[in-house]
Amino acid sequence: MSSRPKVLLARRIFPDIVARLAEHFELEEPLDDQPLPQPELIRRLAGKAGLFATGTELIDQTLLAACPELRAVCLMTVGHNNVDLAACSAHGVRVTNAPDVLTETTADFGFALMLAAARRITEAEHYLRAGRWGQWTVDLLAGADVHGTTLGVLGMGRIGQAIARRGALGFGMQVIYHNRSRLDAELEAPLGAQWVAQDELLRRADHLIIVLPYTPAAHHLIGARELALMKPSATLTHLARGGVVDDAALAEALAAGRLAAAGLDVFEGEPAVNPALLALSNVVLTPHIASASVPTRRAMCNLAVDNLIALLSGAEPLTPLNLGKT
Ligand code: DGY
Repeated sequence: MSSRPKVLLARRIFPDIVARLAEHFELEEPLDDQPLPQPELIRRLAGKAGLFATGTELIDQTLLAACPELRAVCLMTVGHNNVDLAACSAHGVRVTNAPDVLTETTADFGFALMLAAARRITEAEHYLRAGRWGQWTVDLLAGADVHGTTLGVLGMGRIGQAIARRGALGFGMQVIYHNRSRLDAELEAPLGAQWVAQDELLRRADHLIIVLPYTPAAHHLIGARELALMKPSATLTHLARGGVVDDAALAEALAAGRLAAAGLDVFEGEPAVNPALLALSNVVLTPHIASASVPTRRAMCNLAVDNLIALLSGAEPLTPLNLGKT
């Protein structure tokens, strides 16, 4: 019998990284690439010390009580709203996520989405592919400028700061931001970034980008009242987590012309998307792929593996989310 710790891999990942896991652990691989419903996850976790997880497995009190041998849950995502950290700590289960390795890639994508919304890029492509391009007109698919405008960043963590750098240093934007805590002056200064209250951020931003983590307190942080504060010429780009924005209220604002355009990578109840959003042409929709470059997805997976190796050999992980006995 193998003396290596038993680990469950929740979803399909890159074959060479599976091989890396298999070198260190007695590995159970996924049968297919579907999210595991919790009863099935519990069944497959029986006797396992570790779980290689993504953002879709629900790790809560029920699962922890049913899986007493579990010691380590290592997420390949930075977001961890699928994990009850307090319950994990109470059960002595260590949890890690994958910050930093996805920051620049996610910021690139946020900027791309913002540019696409402002400059109507997907709308223009659909127009062309549909054979509607007849002749040049002076205002054909004319959108908003991004350079030299005011960038509003809601959530100034690592990804928010990387987006602010792109805006300030690459596009000559004035950066305003709202965050629970202000950045240190030495981080603000090179970007000329100014902390403002949330309502002021919404009123002043030409392009708002939302990158804060989901918590119950952030549920529908941006709803009808907040959207009504924004300029009708503004765009909203959302990379955070479904539920931070009230998608129905956003669709209403976009349909009524109270907001010019939106770029959305995350949705309430995803992979379902509110049909009212699907019906609009002034919104760019992508399926939660902000961190999905091949090198970055590989780095996220490898960091989760590094954390599993550390935890299951009694060492400190690289990127812990909680403290506790290992
Ligand atoms: C993350 O890492 O949290 C991204 O949203 C990918 O799921």
